[in-house]
Amino acid sequence: MTQEVRGVVARSKGGPVTVETVLVPDPGPGEAVVAVQACGVCHTDLHYREGGINDDFPFLLGHEAAGIVEAVGPGVTGVVPGDFVILNWRAVCGECRSCRRGRPWYCFSTHNATQKMTLADGTLLSPALGIGSFAEKTLVAAGQCTPVDRRARPEAAGLLGCGVMAGLGASMLTGEVGRGDSVAVFGCGGVGCAAIAGAVLAGATTVIGVDLDARKLALAQSFGATAVVDASSEDVVERVRELTGGHGADVCIEAVGNPKVFEQAFFARDLAGTVVQVGVPTPDMKIELPMIEFFGRGGRLKPSWYGDCLPSRDFPILIDLYLQGRLDLDRFVSETIGLEGVEEAFHRMERGEVLRSVVVMVGS
Ligand SMILES: NC(=O)c1ccc[n+]([C@@H]2O[C@H](COP(=O)([O-])OP(=O)(O)OC[C@H]3O[C@@H](n4cnc5c(N)ncnc54)[C@H](O)[C@@H]3O)[C@@H](O)[C@H]2O)c1
Ligand SMILES: [Zn+2]
Ligand SMILES: [Zn+2]
Repeated sequence: MTQEVRGVVARSKGGPVTVETVLVPDPGPGEAVVAVQACGVCHTDLHYREGGINDDFPFLLGHEAAGIVEAVGPGVTGVVPGDFVILNWRAVCGECRSCRRGRPWYCFSTHNATQKMTLADGTLLSPALGIGSFAEKTLVAAGQCTPVDRRARPEAAGLLGCGVMAGLGASMLTGEVGRGDSVAVFGCGGVGCAAIAGAVLAGATTVIGVDLDARKLALAQSFGATAVVDASSEDVVERVRELTGGHGADVCIEAVGNPKVFEQAFFARDLAGTVVQVGVPTPDMKIELPMIEFFGRGGRLKPSWYGDCLPSRDFPILIDLYLQGRLDLDRFVSETIGLEGVEEAFHRMERGEVLRSVVVMVGS
């Protein structure tokens, strides 16, 4: 039976989000309905409502969530009702040309639910990143549910579903940070601070946080940055070079989504170093670089989709590290709010006041 739940909807470009009645169908073949317990507010939700991702309004926002599987459709074998899961937005298909080549984290044909959730009047909703979890319940592809140890707090665990995983993976997987490396992270929001935590876990010995906001620089240090650079007043490229023996960092991670910052990351890198682009650009942005610098500096420029993670492999490992006290996911939770608090949380994010506001569902 179709269920009526409350969810946060962006109806038009730039317009304030509203809490609306959302109709959630029973799961069909390969689908699951999840009772959401907690869902973080990510900058990508704001990109959606600003029209920066596409124009498929109305959007059902939210995509960094943990919850309990309520029901599964025919043919689902990977999860059962009652499982505690983190939702992922790259459920790999196992069959596309990338999966077949043994590179499932690049899967070119990831799964989402086939049926659509709708508004009460039948208007089809576009769920953010195929999830839509600023809602009491959501319909996803069963592969988007990754079971993890249920002792983890949902507010903290859910954050692995997007930004924190993207940041950790930008360092540990895309950037392949290793022992003794120097790493500079540009933008110390939720994603950037996770990249810092990932660099520390991977054994980097110089970890530099760069941001315009002093509060973010303090957070970067609390996650293990060994030095910080205030981009509002310092020459970023010069300072990163100074902090790395005059050479530049082995791995520079762009976690803002800004061409100027990409350029800084490019020039703040050592010879044969790596630039990781994890911040999401908008369609109008362009990068222009002297080709001789691209060639002459060598190394690698690598975009990072979801931190190049494989949810089924990486979420359980990272939850174990969290439960062992080796990865402080709780530190990312700046505040908990209700569904009606999302619009205000966007403003707090824009003002730089939070790492993550996390929506907690009543009664969960
Ligand atoms: N690649 C992925 O799979 C993936 C996943 C999740 C989020 N993202 C993207 O990562 C980016 C960061 O997300 P977030 O949630 O951490 O956002 P956020 O708003 O919390 O953090 C952005 C940070 O960048 C800082 N900043 C802005 N301009 C800057 C500049 N010129 N120099 C230095 N710092 C600057 C801000 O002060 C802020 O601290 C966004 O673009 C988001 O869409 C990517
Ligand atoms: Zn695939
Ligand atoms: Zn996100």
